[in-house]
Amino acid sequence: MIGEDVLDLDGQVALVTGAGKGAGRGIALELAKHNAGGIAVNDFVAERAEEVVEEIRALGVPATAVPFDVCDLEQVGAAFAKAGSEIGAVTILVNNAGMAGPTGQISMNTNFWEEDPGEWGKYMNTNLYGVFNCTHAAIPAMVDAQRGRIVTIVSDSGRVGEPRQAVYSAAKAGAAGFMRSIAKETGRFGITANSVALASIQTMMTDDQFAEFQKSDGYKAAMSRYTIRRWGQPDDVAALVAFLCSNRASWITGQTYPLNGGYSMAQ
Ligand SMILES: NC(=O)c1ccc[n+]([C@@H]2O[C@H](COP(=O)([O-])OP(=O)(O)OC[C@H]3O[C@@H](n4cnc5c(N)ncnc54)[C@H](O)[C@@H]3O)[C@@H](O)[C@H]2O)c1
Repeated sequence: MIGEDVLDLDGQVALVTGAGKGAGRGIALELAKHNAGGIAVNDFVAERAEEVVEEIRALGVPATAVPFDVCDLEQVGAAFAKAGSEIGAVTILVNNAGMAGPTGQISMNTNFWEEDPGEWGKYMNTNLYGVFNCTHAAIPAMVDAQRGRIVTIVSDSGRVGEPRQAVYSAAKAGAAGFMRSIAKETGRFGITANSVALASIQTMMTDDQFAEFQKSDGYKAAMSRYTIRRWGQPDDVAALVAFLCSNRASWITGQTYPLNGGYSMAQ
C-alpha cells in the first residue's frame, strides 16, 4: 500500500455486539482488516458469533466468540473479562446489537397509541439498556489504557422521527444522548464516544426476498425518500465505524453521524 492506512487501528482490541450477522458482522470484519489486535464477536445466537470468529481468524486476526445478551449485566461483565484474558483488553466497543432485541421482530405497522405497552421493553432493553451495560463494562479498561473508542449504532428514526417506530426511535435517541454525556465524561482519558445513525440497511431480507421486493411499488415508494437510490449495505456502515475507531478520528467525539443515502439531511 502507498502511504498509511487511514483506518489503521494500531493493534487495539475490539468488541462488537450483535456481530453474528448484518451490519455488526460487516463492522467486525472491517475492523479485523485494519490492524485490530483482536476481535471479540458478540451475538445472542452463539453459532452466528462462532461463524464470524472463523471468518476473522481466516484473515489472520485473533478472535473469540462472546455470546451473551447485552441486556444481562452479569453476562456482559463476564464476557469482557473473557475477551481480556483471551485476546487482550478491549479498548474499542461497538454497540451494534439493536432492532427488537434477540427474539423480537421489529414492527412498523402499529400506531403508538394502539400498541400493547408490553411491547415497549423489547426496544428499550437492547437499544438503550444494552448500550448502558456494555459501555459500563468497557470503560474501566479504556481508562487504564488512557485510550478508547466507543461507537453506538443508532437510527435516523431517533434523529428525525419515524411513524410507527416511536419507542424504538426513543431508545435510539436516548442512546445517542447517552454517548454525548459519556464523551464528556471520558474525553480526558483519550476516549471518544460517537453514534452512527442509519437509515435502511439491507440486512432483514435474503437476496431472493430483496430481489422480489425490488420489483414492488413499495420499494419504489421507499426509494423515493433516498437521494442515493439504494438501501445501505453492511460495508457502508463498516467503513464509517472503522474510521471513527481509528487514530485519525481522535478529535471527533460526542457526535451523531447520519449514514443514510440522503434519507435526511442536517446542517
Ligand atoms: N437494518 C436497518 O435497516 C437498520 C436501520 C437503522 C438502524 N439499524 C440498527 O443497526 C444495528 C444493526 O442492525 P442489523 O439490521 O444489522 O441487525 P440484524 O437483525 O441483521 O442483526 C442483529 C444481530 O444482533 C443480535 N442481537 C439482537 N439483540 C441482541 C442482544 N440483546 N444481545 C446480543 N445480540 C443481540 C441478533 O441475534 C442479530 O444476530 C442495530 O442497532 C439496528 O437497530 C438498522
